[in-house]
Amino acid sequence: MTLSENYILKACEPWEMVTYLGRRSNGLNDVLPQNLAHDSIQSLEPQERKRLDTFISSPSKPFIIMENLRQGLNEKTLFELDIKIGFKTASKKELIEQSHPSPFMKRQKHRCLDIAYQSTNRGWRIEGITIKGHPQKHPKLYFSLFPVHFLHNFMSKLPPEKQSLILAKVEKITEKLKRYTGDLIGPSILIVTDLDKDSPCRAHLIDCAHGSLRKKAQIPYPEVANAAAQFHTTIKSMNTGNFHQYDNETIRLTQRSQLLTSLM
Ligand SMILES: Nc1ncnc2c1ncn2[C@@H]1O[C@H](COP(=O)(O)OP(=O)(O)O)[C@@H](O)[C@H]1O
Ligand SMILES: [Mg+2]
Repeated sequence: MTLSENYILKACEPWEMVTYLGRRSNGLNDVLPQNLAHDSIQSLEPQERKRLDTFISSPSKPFIIMENLRQGLNEKTLFELDIKIGFKTASKKELIEQSHPSPFMKRQKHRCLDIAYQSTNRGWRIEGITIKGHPQKHPKLYFSLFPVHFLHNFMSKLPPEKQSLILAKVEKITEKLKRYTGDLIGPSILIVTDLDKDSPCRAHLIDCAHGSLRKKAQIPYPEVANAAAQFHTTIKSMNTGNFHQYDNETIRLTQRSQLLTSLM
């Protein structure tokens, strides 16, 4: 829920709260959006406070108030890309820990979706995309059939300086994930900018709702970092126009996707 031009309110799962509260010790401080400490809520403007109160008065989950990444950007030329990162987007272990009534079935359902949406092969998928102020309204399955087309459309319409900034920021997120020692499942990278020459270009890790601590907590777990690296490689190839490697893959995956959809 948007509280104002400055703030977003998100009701969050326990793991998202753990991630934000531990941002200084878990190494993700620089890549998570800034958030307001709960004891700073008094600093909100009266209008923001009013919106927050309506949320709090309804039975609510724990929440965080984070910076609105669209702040200061021009809605008419807004570019926004939400990429879900990970080869898998649900963990049986986490579901069991949360006492989910049917962790096996839920994990199986996600496994099918991950195959259909291509997360299993690519390590990323498009959750939402806005180009020049126009949200691209397609089913997720459609995005997953032509992801390179949509990404190319997104990147190529931005000036080269912004493309380079995006690349650098996604690389930084990947580096941070390489050192992260928890088991983060299906977070997103949110990229937001617009066409104004001097406006900011932001890329942050959001939607850290799912994950768990690992037994060997000191050792980084490479899976989500590898997935982010694959996304980085894909957008990097957009700069060099190096698409041919995707042609055959896209055809093969399209056929597999159609088969899966007909089975679901
Ligand atoms: N800090 C933020 N600033 C601006 N928009 C945001 C921010 N966080 C999330 N959003 C918007 O909300 C959408 C969903 O957020 P997300 O955290 O992924 O929630 P969900 O758990 O519903 O997937 C994102 O795709 C983006 O459009
Ligand atoms: Mg999300």
